[in-house]
Amino acid sequence: MKISDSILTKSEKITFSLRELYSSRGYTQYKMGKFEEYDFYAKNKNFLVSDDVITFTDTDGKLMALKPDVTLSIIKNGKDLPDITQKVFYNENVYRVIRGAGSFGEIMQAGVECFGKVDEDAVAEVLSLAGESLKLISDRFVLAVSDLDVIKEVIDVFAPSAARKALLSAIGEKNAASVTEAAGGEKEAEPILKLLSIKGEQKAAIKALKAFSAEYPAVKSVNSFCAFLEALDKKSSITGLYVDFSVLNDVNYYNGVVFKGYVDGVPSAVLSGGRYDNLMAKLKKRSSAIGFAVYTDELNETPIEKNGEKPDGYINVALPKGRLGEKAYEIFASCGYDCPTILEPNRKLVFENEKNKMRFFWVKPSDIAIYVERGAADIGVVGKDILNEYETDVYELCDLKIGKCKMAVAAPKGFKDDPSKVLRVATKFLKTAKKFYREKGRNIDVIKLNGSIEIAPLLKLSDVIVDIVETGSTLRENNLEIIEVINDISARLIANKSAYKFKNARIDEICDRLFKKERG
Ligand code: PRP
Repeated sequence: MKISDSILTKSEKITFSLRELYSSRGYTQYKMGKFEEYDFYAKNKNFLVSDDVITFTDTDGKLMALKPDVTLSIIKNGKDLPDITQKVFYNENVYRVIRGAGSFGEIMQAGVECFGKVDEDAVAEVLSLAGESLKLISDRFVLAVSDLDVIKEVIDVFAPSAARKALLSAIGEKNAASVTEAAGGEKEAEPILKLLSIKGEQKAAIKALKAFSAEYPAVKSVNSFCAFLEALDKKSSITGLYVDFSVLNDVNYYNGVVFKGYVDGVPSAVLSGGRYDNLMAKLKKRSSAIGFAVYTDELNETPIEKNGEKPDGYINVALPKGRLGEKAYEIFASCGYDCPTILEPNRKLVFENEKNKMRFFWVKPSDIAIYVERGAADIGVVGKDILNEYETDVYELCDLKIGKCKMAVAAPKGFKDDPSKVLRVATKFLKTAKKFYREKGRNIDVIKLNGSIEIAPLLKLSDVIVDIVETGSTLRENNLEIIEVINDISARLIANKSAYKFKNARIDEICDRLFKKERG
């Protein structure tokens, strides 16, 4: 029976092509059951993309789970033969909490795992398969590659007492200010920021890595990464390969080469993988391993078409409605990115300047990060308060040093906290408040309000508030005072991780001009 192409969804077509590709390269299909014992996932929770797992009790009383991940099962059930290279591919549904939706969903994944003996050739083959997988999806793709050993070594050598978790997360966001803070100072951060600035296609990156190695000879693993990239270039030139040290995976499980694949028009990575010898060791296996997954579901909802329309070349900028947005626009305009129609008195929300190919949108300040994360805007200007609260997956490129204020705890003058009672906290910023008090070990009852937070303690709805303080006049006029400052806030320029790969030169130029402006 011949199945007509027209009844298949985009994701199904890609899935079949991927299966064909993997089996043509000697990978055998791995089929797994829907369930695993929950205990197995509980022990390896940090390896999973989301902590939550759907569980149920089986007829024999065992606690089981609907599988949230494929790699763990393949490795657990595979033979531990460190001298033999085993190659499998899969095409499976997994059950996870979907980011954004906040509830469980079924996700289709295709991917490959190569384990046992993993030499340089095997790594090169997996990377090239990742590149070919992306090419099957779109001609406009980027395979962003990094090396966790290099990142770890730079941190160990130059910033050994860094706050590691915060530092890695700042590296993942390309957030220079936070890298400096978490590394422990400018001197400690300098080599890390230099490494982070090395990005681009293979040849240019190799040159930059060699210069880095000459400047910081103590970081030995840079040479191996360089040699690996050179060998890769000779063996199989992977088009679309792009070195980018902001690509990270959990360092407790992954080591060496890690990578993420992006296609133009899809706002988040459609492919993710890396070498995970550390996971093997945790599972008490002697074998090495490398693999990747392709998130085929992502592809149904997106406008990408193979050989499709060329992008329109515009940079889409989300600005926060209100004073902060107006100030931000002034900075853009003074840097040559003006859009005169934006100043016309009307209720339009989208403005274009054909000449400099800029398109500005006015959106609600608290929605900016979502617009950027989901790719509706390439870049945006957003307060650090919103970034902290929503923990969106975006690059934080530069501090615009406008909209400066503080996130603080405030209470009626003379307030004394009674630690024997649960503290009632009114706020718009639920996550921020919960995180702040969790770290202090203080029990709170958090009350979510949407505005005029200052009134809550006056009417005895709460004991304290967690809110933004700019001039302090709202607090003063209501007889409240700051008890503790949580952090300083200012507006940041953020970018969508995928758009940044495809519009890199323009976004970098915008960022440079805005940064120079800010420095005067
Ligand atoms: C913000 C914040 C404070 C006020 C602080 O409110 O929530 O209420 O500004 O500014 P100040 O220190 O200069 O007095 P916003 O104006 O955004 O309105 P809201 O109360 O509805 O949140």
